[in-house]
Amino acid sequence: MLFYYSATGITRKLALTIAERTGDCVCSIENELEKGECSYSLKDSERLGFLSPVYFGAVPDIVKRFVEKIQLQTADNYYCFVAFTYGASAFNAANQLTGMLMRHGITTNAAFGACGIDTFLPMYTIPSGESRTSVEAQMSTQNALIAEQVADRTQINDVKTGPFPRLTSATAALLYAWMRRTNNFRVSDACTGCGLCAKNCPEHAISLDPDTHRPQWNAPKCMLCLRCLHHCPAAAIDYSDITKDKIRLRSYP
Ligand SMILES: Cc1cc2nc3c(=O)[nH]c(=O)nc-3n(C[C@H](O)[C@H](O)[C@H](O)COP(=O)(O)O)c2cc1C
Repeated sequence: MLFYYSATGITRKLALTIAERTGDCVCSIENELEKGECSYSLKDSERLGFLSPVYFGAVPDIVKRFVEKIQLQTADNYYCFVAFTYGASAFNAANQLTGMLMRHGITTNAAFGACGIDTFLPMYTIPSGESRTSVEAQMSTQNALIAEQVADRTQINDVKTGPFPRLTSATAALLYAWMRRTNNFRVSDACTGCGLCAKNCPEHAISLDPDTHRPQWNAPKCMLCLRCLHHCPAAAIDYSDITKDKIRLRSYP
């Protein structure tokens, strides 16, 4: 059973690559939370995976909510892993998630990291041309290797944490608290009012203005997953002015 959260598709691709290799079923954390009850029973020797992007050196809120809610009936010899995708480093995220799982009585056997594109457009850029092709090839190779290790039930901690992971994550949390205010979002005249941003927001933080049909953020803060910004067909959503004219990830792959 593989539970994943993915705002822009990178982690979803990793989950699907693993599932293709192992035959495990894949569940979107967003869908599971929408359904309400999050009760599951593992079969003997079943694999259990939690896959997520890293947000400011930590586990995204939606994944935390899911782990808080999950009711899991474990079975003999289950193999549990966590896997993170990130642009540079997971910092303390893997430790945070394994700790949360441990408090729920779930023991983790392995932690994997897949480094690739950083979707945090206010600070980074999406590569294009040859560098995009090269980073995607590297991500596919990493995904295939992780899938192989999960299939073999490898016990390993292979997550890049960088120096002083706890301290870096704690500092990043302060920056996150400041940056995640939704009043930083802007909508340009390119908006066609298609409503995809509101429909697909994992936190239901966006509604459409009844008159203009343009998005308006109805929560003071969000996870800052940037799905609205990356997936807007008209590239009409920006974060302040700092994402203007930057390439979007669109739908990945
Ligand atoms: C709000 C936010 C915070 C992020 N923080 C980090 C980080 O601390 N370290 C890092 O290496 N990448 C960071 N990233 C990059 C993502 O973790 C990475 O691009 C991930 O693969 C996106 O996965 P997804 O397409 O499945 O959503 C961040 C991205 C976002 C949107």
